[in-house]
Amino acid sequence: MMKFHVKTYGCQMNERDSEAVGALLMASGYEQAADEDDADIIIINTCSVRKKAEDKALGKLGLLTYDKENRRVIVGAIGCMVQRLQNHLLEMVPGLDFAVGTQNLSKLPEILASVLNSRERVIETGTGGGNDSLLCGHNSKNVCAFVNILFGCDRGCSYCVVPAVRGPERSRPADEIISEVKALAKTGCREVTLLGQSVMSYGRKNKVWPEDYVSPMGFKEPLPRLLEVVNAIDGIKRIRFTSGHPSGCTEELVRAMAELPNVCEHIHLPLQSGSDRVLKLMRRGYTVDDYRKAVEAMRKVMPDMGITTDIIVGFTSETHEEFEMTRLFMDEIGFDNAFIFKYSPRPDTPAADWKDDVPADEKMSRNKLLLEEQDRRSNALNVKYTGRTLEVLVEGVSKRNKTRLSGRSRSNKIVVFDCADDIKNGSLINVVIERVMAQTLYGKVLN
Ligand code: 5AD
Ligand code: SF4
Repeated sequence: MMKFHVKTYGCQMNERDSEAVGALLMASGYEQAADEDDADIIIINTCSVRKKAEDKALGKLGLLTYDKENRRVIVGAIGCMVQRLQNHLLEMVPGLDFAVGTQNLSKLPEILASVLNSRERVIETGTGGGNDSLLCGHNSKNVCAFVNILFGCDRGCSYCVVPAVRGPERSRPADEIISEVKALAKTGCREVTLLGQSVMSYGRKNKVWPEDYVSPMGFKEPLPRLLEVVNAIDGIKRIRFTSGHPSGCTEELVRAMAELPNVCEHIHLPLQSGSDRVLKLMRRGYTVDDYRKAVEAMRKVMPDMGITTDIIVGFTSETHEEFEMTRLFMDEIGFDNAFIFKYSPRPDTPAADWKDDVPADEKMSRNKLLLEEQDRRSNALNVKYTGRTLEVLVEGVSKRNKTRLSGRSRSNKIVVFDCADDIKNGSLINVVIERVMAQTLYGKVLN
């Protein structure tokens, strides 16, 4: 049997795609390799969000394909970069055997078969050519799983390549998602993260519920309805969803989060900038005050809610004062964690036509400053957990210290604790926090 290995760059959406592709290949008679060296087919799942992400994948593809004559493995690229670069990717990586874009991943088994039969290169990058619904397989028995609920994005932020590479927004029918989560629960999954680029837009564009569906809690909006049903699925103990947008933090959604016991008190709400002028230029569709109000509404009913964010520094024409506004606002909100990115112009986005005029060293120092401040902030905020008892879903052995176990709190903090033999992955336990760092809480299990 031929063995494959998938290496993934990019976001959770890509991780999810890689897993679904793996499941699809296994169903088609391929076997998962232990690692890259053990594989006959190596597939690189690529990301286009920043130039650096593309450079990394290109470097990897170059290394894997440079010696075509003596090479025994088949090398393919899938995902966002394939969709963006189309045939240029085949020119840039002359040894590449196949390339499949984000919207055709369900065709991978046929494409691979044809590459293996003919030894000819194949590229498949049409838009809307694949079937999203075929990409729902899971092949791990992990405690936590990602579930797609919405593909593509219609938001049109001026810097973002996603609409170009993942196509227009389309929501999955609720019944399909519910069946997938039920099946996951049967395999031992205890936590699901519902995924969408702009997840709160779920079901706003296309119909996802039958006309006559009535929500027991009286929800009219599609995402709260979905959370309500998933909350009742046997075996599922925790539900998260990502990524959010301030306009989606409606009264109904806040109520669903507060009242549904399995929906966790955590939200990833990308801010991007603390300046209204920059937000407008980014076409984010909210002001700093809209963002503040969304956070206030959630904190009012969930005071201990974890809030994480994404920030872009050095966007076109961002002044020093505007950067300072971002700094101040990050402090005002008190984010639990933040991912900080240096603006990277992406071809075929509206902002690509504007000057990338913040110098590289300035972007670097803004990036560094926000990272340092966030590290201090995370640390300081975590101190409040010392001595407190947190509910933790056990995920497995800790990466750093194999004698310990690790899991996450409802607010999405990583919690590391000593191992007792009778604690199984997937169980909910109480941990008393003894020591904290910026990214991790340490404690002992409460009997
Ligand atoms: N340059 C830098 N960062 C970007 N992001 C998206 N596009 C770009 C870009 N062109 C960041 C945003 C987004 C995260 C996934 O990546 O902060 O929320
Ligand atoms: Fe994810 Fe965007 Fe990167 Fe694609 S380009 S993998 S959607 S972050």
